[in-house]
Amino acid sequence: MFQIKLNSLPDYFDEYNQPCYLLKQKKGLVEDRNDYLHIDALADGYVTAVSTTLRLWVSQQVSLAAAGRKVDMLEVGGATGVFFDWVKETACTYINIEPCPMLLDEKALERLKDSRYMCIKCSGEDIPLQDESVDIILAISSFDHIPDHRKALREIKRLLRKNGLFILTLNNRRSWWKSLLSGSDYLKKREELIAKDHYIQWSFSECESNLSQFFTIENMCTTTFFTFVPQVWRYVLPITNSIGESLFPKYGSNILVVCRNAD
Ligand SMILES: C[S@@+](CC[C@H](N)C(=O)[O-])C[C@H]1O[C@@H](n2cnc3c(N)ncnc32)[C@H](O)[C@@H]1O
Repeated sequence: MFQIKLNSLPDYFDEYNQPCYLLKQKKGLVEDRNDYLHIDALADGYVTAVSTTLRLWVSQQVSLAAAGRKVDMLEVGGATGVFFDWVKETACTYINIEPCPMLLDEKALERLKDSRYMCIKCSGEDIPLQDESVDIILAISSFDHIPDHRKALREIKRLLRKNGLFILTLNNRRSWWKSLLSGSDYLKKREELIAKDHYIQWSFSECESNLSQFFTIENMCTTTFFTFVPQVWRYVLPITNSIGESLFPKYGSNILVVCRNAD
């Protein structure tokens, strides 16, 4: 773990010597709570396939942006820091902002020993770091877990160096299949369940309009054009993805965005 100057003193250090800040967040911290939403999809490998696609896309964006340089990165809601392993060759430093207390396995403990990596246990709404101190900020399926998204966007903008990038992935509340089910009891119930652990549910255009109040959007698309149907998804997802990405680019289940801090 590298040493960094924190803007404010942590409330305490945990058993792994990670600086911790108290927060009063009521939901969104323990992802397991909504596992009943996708328990079968987890068991059948769908969740892993989707998250691998998202991580692949984000790591490609990181290497494009870094263009061979080493960069200072920060991830918001990085859990045990798994994504560091995907981009560590590009990282000069990598700070994981993860407020949820978590047991660290062997790999996570290895990360803590890496001189480029550190985890700060605080909210993405209030990060105790200097202005303009990072080149790239990532939020992989985590931004909708933060209570006040405008506060988090202000914080991300403050931390990014000029021309730095904010790269995020987010659920799309208006994927093609949710659009078809729009107004149905099934979808209303599902949105209520999602709301138990998430603070926002945005469509492609809502995401575009919220982010563009803070950043210049450089690249925005979606992926995951087939929802979970046991076994069937394995054969259909690759086909629907190749069709959907060109024909219905706003209607996949995951929104992918690259924003630039241009001013
Ligand atoms: C769906 S998980 C995604 C984890 C990881 N990015 C991944 O792709 O596997 C959402 C993460 O956001 C974290 N989170 C919740 N509230 C947060 C907050 N206020 N600030 C930053 N992260 C938060 C959760 O603890 C959780 O680790």
